[in-house]
Amino acid sequence: MAQTTPFPAYLPSWMKASFEQAAAAIEPIDPADFDQLQCDWYNAIEGHLTGYDCKACKNRGYIAVLEDGYQLHKECACMKIRRNRKNMHQSGLSDALDRMTFDSYRCTEPWQERARDAAMHYVDKQDGRWLYLAGQSGTGKTHLCTAVCGALLQRGVSVRYEMWRSLCREMQRFETRDQKLAEMAACDVLYIDDFLKNAAIQTAPNEPYRQTRLDGELRKEINLAFEIINERYIRKKPLILSSEVLLRPLFQLDGAIAGRIRERCGGFVIQIRHGEARNYRMQ
Ligand SMILES: Nc1ncnc2c1ncn2[C@@H]1O[C@H](COP(=O)(O)OP(=O)(O)O)[C@@H](O)[C@H]1O
Ligand SMILES: [Mg+2]
Ligand SMILES: [Zn+2]
Repeated sequence: MAQTTPFPAYLPSWMKASFEQAAAAIEPIDPADFDQLQCDWYNAIEGHLTGYDCKACKNRGYIAVLEDGYQLHKECACMKIRRNRKNMHQSGLSDALDRMTFDSYRCTEPWQERARDAAMHYVDKQDGRWLYLAGQSGTGKTHLCTAVCGALLQRGVSVRYEMWRSLCREMQRFETRDQKLAEMAACDVLYIDDFLKNAAIQTAPNEPYRQTRLDGELRKEINLAFEIINERYIRKKPLILSSEVLLRPLFQLDGAIAGRIRERCGGFVIQIRHGEARNYRMQ
């Protein structure tokens, strides 16, 4: 209801009547409605973010909402996807993501079909579990893991890609170590490619029971591997590993690492047995 305005006495009555008429015609706005209107105005503005087209926030990255009478600008879900893409781009996996997909993975052998099906199954049934894909070089491990990452990214999961050897270097440098740990802790899914690459050289696939001598460098690598594995383990966050080290020799190298992998992967340990014909790079 419009309030009757106290008019100064000297105003002519026709003027008062006309003011009253005008005041009655204006719908008073409830302050809450006004806040909602402001949100709607903000939410109608077109934003300028590029790289991904979001209908929800019109590429502004933020959505205005009312919560307990307060106007809040909340980050839109697309920001996670945008950061993912940036991260993938920076990590050098973006080209690989286009090329290494489930569609481009050819299955001419039954073992390839098994490996692909297990990897696809992991995307659907991951549920916090880990994926360990092991086998000799050139068997498509990176291809399948990258396809898994691509499929997870499509679902809005944030994925971080690390190459084991560069990760080792960065973790050993005091200046980059903390930053690296923080980045890895922040992502939903961490993919480490060529896990234990140096150890792999020392555990010949045809002699899985050979006692491996843990020299200084290898010991360092194993300690680092444990640190990263354990961090993921404690945080209960998914981890994808591709490695040339099969699980059995890994148990011999370090039971604590292999045990955690075994436990978290459950059925998602894919192992490709050794065989020259299996090296895709030789074909
Ligand atoms: N089944 C497959 N179908 C299509 N391309 C494949 C297949 N397996 C491997 N490749 C390709 O062969 C190359 C080597 O595979 P990669 O995944 O890097 O092997 P790994 O990581 O096991 O050493 C890559 O370019 C990959 O895309
Ligand atoms: Mg590889
Ligand atoms: Zn958005």
